Amino acid sequence: MAQTDVSLPDVPLLRVRGLSASYRTPNGVIPAVRDVSFDLQRGETLALVGESAAGKSSIGLALLGLLPPNASVVSGEALFRGEPLLGATPQRLRELRGAAISMIFQDAQSALTPTISVGDQVAEVYAAHLRLSKKEARERAVSRLREVLPDADRVAKAYPFQLSGGMAQRVMIAMATALSPQVIIADEPTASLDPSVRQETLAALERLRDEQGVGVLLITHDFGVVARLADRVAVMYAGELVEVSDVRTAFRAPRHPYTFGLLSSLPAFAAERGQLVPMPGQPPDLSALPPGCPFLPRCAKVTLRCRGDAAPALAPYAGSESEADTAEEPDHLVACYNPIAVALRE
Ligand SMILES: Nc1ncnc2c1ncn2[C@@H]1O[C@H](COP(=O)(O)OP(=O)(O)O)[C@@H](O)[C@H]1O
Ligand SMILES: [Mg+2]
Repeated sequence: MAQTDVSLPDVPLLRVRGLSASYRTPNGVIPAVRDVSFDLQRGETLALVGESAAGKSSIGLALLGLLPPNASVVSGEALFRGEPLLGATPQRLRELRGAAISMIFQDAQSALTPTISVGDQVAEVYAAHLRLSKKEARERAVSRLREVLPDADRVAKAYPFQLSGGMAQRVMIAMATALSPQVIIADEPTASLDPSVRQETLAALERLRDEQGVGVLLITHDFGVVARLADRVAVMYAGELVEVSDVRTAFRAPRHPYTFGLLSSLPAFAAERGQLVPMPGQPPDLSALPPGCPFLPRCAKVTLRCRGDAAPALAPYAGSESEADTAEEPDHLVACYNPIAVALRE
């Protein structure tokens, strides 16, 4: 494949700018991703968090050209080490997918092709990208499976439906990492796993990041996973990023009322403060979004300005209006006119 190995200092592994993507449905257009921008550096894990239907998976799919036919990227730019992804030819995307950028999914069973044996599926990755003979690819596949499974020869002959969930997950990760990708998009990678496979999956991602400098875009709503793996956190609400910060700041001093609400509702934080505060309300209907701040109907900190038609843009946190002396935090982005001023905890 035509992958360049020239090291490019200062160029992030992934740079996304102003990404917007929509779905066409019988009930109208759903603007699922709206003006999303972020960078992912080498060896970094960026967690993308938010409630279901926030648009997290749509970002991952858009980057890899895997959106379904009723969806399209409306605008924006996505660069992999400086190379445009959104306008890339299907041929180039196929070269990059699975080799330079891999995606792992929540449901390994359905991510694998049901009618092809596990060994042949892994072999296909090698055959497609490395132009190996069938036999060579098959040998590579079995030795790859041996690295992650005790029972590789038997698993290679099996079909996906014959595998346990944990086994299928290991196979999917073995496939996704067979060609040493530089970026892994992990979409809810541990959501349906039992605790031991969950730990194993997290450890595998950690190793790839620490030993090979893989950049991980970690899509999750599990804050335990965020605390363990993430370097930075991007919080998504109704298709938009509403807060981006380092992981410590995200847990200690979130500024957006949505982030604050998400964290306050976690049992771990509730225990500290003696009460569980479930977040009231529901995300808005994306097909009929009113102008202005999409979080307004659920927000406990609404001001007059928030009721205007101009939605707050993601910008460096510069203290709340009422606390002008709060230190500015240039790496901490918040889309809010009246951010939280107090720390959630020290
Ligand atoms: N294939 C699809 N057709 C129509 N709408 C979709 C489709 N996939 C996702 N959506 C809509 O796009 C929005 C974002 O979905 P998604 O990216 O899956 O969110 P998340 O991963 O955060 O749960 C949701 O409102 C969802 O209903
Ligand atoms: Mg999703």
